Amino acid sequence: MVTVAKTAGFCFGVQRAVDMAEKACQEYGCIWALGDIIHNAHEVGRLEKLGVHKAEDVADIPDGVPVLIRAHGVPERVVQQLEQKGCRIVDATCPFVGKIHRIVREESEQGRRIIIIGSRNHPEVVGIQGWCGTSEVYETPEELRAALEKIGKNGENLQKIPVSVVAQTTINREIFDICGKIIKKQCTNAKIFGTICNATDERQAEARLLAGKSDIMIVIGDRKSSNTKRLYEISTSLCDHVLYIEDATGLTGNEIQGMEQPFIGITAGASTPAWIIKEVRNIMSEETRIETGSEDFAAMLEE
Ligand code: F3S
Repeated sequence: MVTVAKTAGFCFGVQRAVDMAEKACQEYGCIWALGDIIHNAHEVGRLEKLGVHKAEDVADIPDGVPVLIRAHGVPERVVQQLEQKGCRIVDATCPFVGKIHRIVREESEQGRRIIIIGSRNHPEVVGIQGWCGTSEVYETPEELRAALEKIGKNGENLQKIPVSVVAQTTINREIFDICGKIIKKQCTNAKIFGTICNATDERQAEARLLAGKSDIMIVIGDRKSSNTKRLYEISTSLCDHVLYIEDATGLTGNEIQGMEQPFIGITAGASTPAWIIKEVRNIMSEETRIETGSEDFAAMLEE
């Protein structure tokens, strides 16, 4: 049996950014974007054909053109640079990310130390850092523990330091909870902001359920997609046979060899288009049918 997670595919923020890019192309003929609008090569290619031009740096963007800020958001200085160039800004920063920008700015203005739990070089984290004064990024509880120990050894009184903690929207909930506990234990003046977005929470929870009962778990998404990587990590902790593929070309046709009527779970990152998920599901459904010869198979495809 093949089951696709209900939460698989585009999240609200990615869908919104794609819609805004399409609308801007219709309105202005074309639009510039800093980096890929979403972490999916197929979707980026489709948007390119509609008129989305990619630039790696603000300096590469011509003056006065429309520019889309992607869902990950950008540092405040980038917004200012674009304004100075007279660009028309179409801000597709996901509102969940925008909320983190406001939190770190306000907390930092109050003189609090900003700690971000997330991936150091991820564009969302780089963007968040650009909305506050100095900040520190920790990727794992071990890293955080070591950093706090070092601060204590340097003679700073951790108990007294005002600390405000935010999460990258797509990090693993369990990791953030552990980090929150470590900080609370050592710092009495700590504020923990649970900024993991709902879409991430729901996806991870569903991946946990599905991986736990699947013989094979398939995770679909771009290698650069942070939230897809988290789904893969969660799946491997609960299922012995996990495939991480970018699209249907990642399937070999031998996935279920030697298995009798396997339960196959499929999930996908927030930037994976629906048509890729469907294609993978259809292929796996076909493989299952051949392998098991199940007569009830047509009913399974009805979901
Ligand atoms: Fe926004 Fe969450 Fe998607 S932060 S871009 S809704 S994964």
